[in-house]
Amino acid sequence: MFEYEKKDIVDRYVQDVNKIGLWSSEKEIFTKFIHKDDSILDLGCGAGRTTFNLYNMGYTNIEGIDLSVDLINEAKKLADAMDCNISFSHMDARELKYDEQKFDCVFFSYNGLFTIPKYEERSKVLKEVWRVLKDDRLFIFTSYDRNGNSKYSDFWLKEKELWENNQHQKFLYEYGDRYVKFNENELVFIHVADDLEVEKMIKEQNFKLEYKQKKSEICAPSPQETGVYGDCIFYIVRKMG
Ligand SMILES: C[S@@+](CC[C@H](N)C(=O)[O-])C[C@H]1O[C@@H](n2cnc3c(N)ncnc32)[C@H](O)[C@@H]1O
Repeated sequence: MFEYEKKDIVDRYVQDVNKIGLWSSEKEIFTKFIHKDDSILDLGCGAGRTTFNLYNMGYTNIEGIDLSVDLINEAKKLADAMDCNISFSHMDARELKYDEQKFDCVFFSYNGLFTIPKYEERSKVLKEVWRVLKDDRLFIFTSYDRNGNSKYSDFWLKEKELWENNQHQKFLYEYGDRYVKFNENELVFIHVADDLEVEKMIKEQNFKLEYKQKKSEICAPSPQETGVYGDCIFYIVRKMG
């Protein structure tokens, strides 16, 4: 079963739409880089935490897609309940059903890109984002940083050794992969990339790095998000011709 269709996970993402809302860093980034009338595609939108709250900020030309049927159904229910005219579709970010050059901005929030196992599969997302973005427009996403937290340095050093000696856990695909506790009952997959890997992927798919900043260095988190989300890096990359 796709992990983002498990009940606990779906319930939490539905709650987050109103309980957490936008991260203060997300608000700051959008205010600085994106015009209010830009057309925005919210990839991996879940139940719509970012979609609804960006809409409420005035980014009304926004739509959301997600691979989880259950999360998209919840987003649609919320849109009906809030009488909010946002289109939500079940779709795979690796195979977008849009014509080329449709959007001014594409967003993949909360490290969603790195919930997709395998480098080549994540690269497919960038390829598709490149295709549906208008020329010179921006893709915004976030990633955990393997080198960004000294608390985990020993863990990653040991992991590296295990991978080099082919002693890693066989259900993992690449060095950097982890299953983390979502709550008492559920584990979720995440690939913890390092900067070199992210920059390689960006370059290979013909994007130019425009901006890179740690979430914690952009601004203080809102009281609602404090303690709920770890630190990560915001990447803003521009489609090159
Ligand atoms: C960490 S959650 C973030 C959800 C939401 N953006 C938020 O911030 O509340 C990652 C989301 O990416 C979605 N996802 C994973 N793989 C996907 C894919 N290939 N295409 C579209 N969505 C995907 C998951 O279903 C999940 O909703």
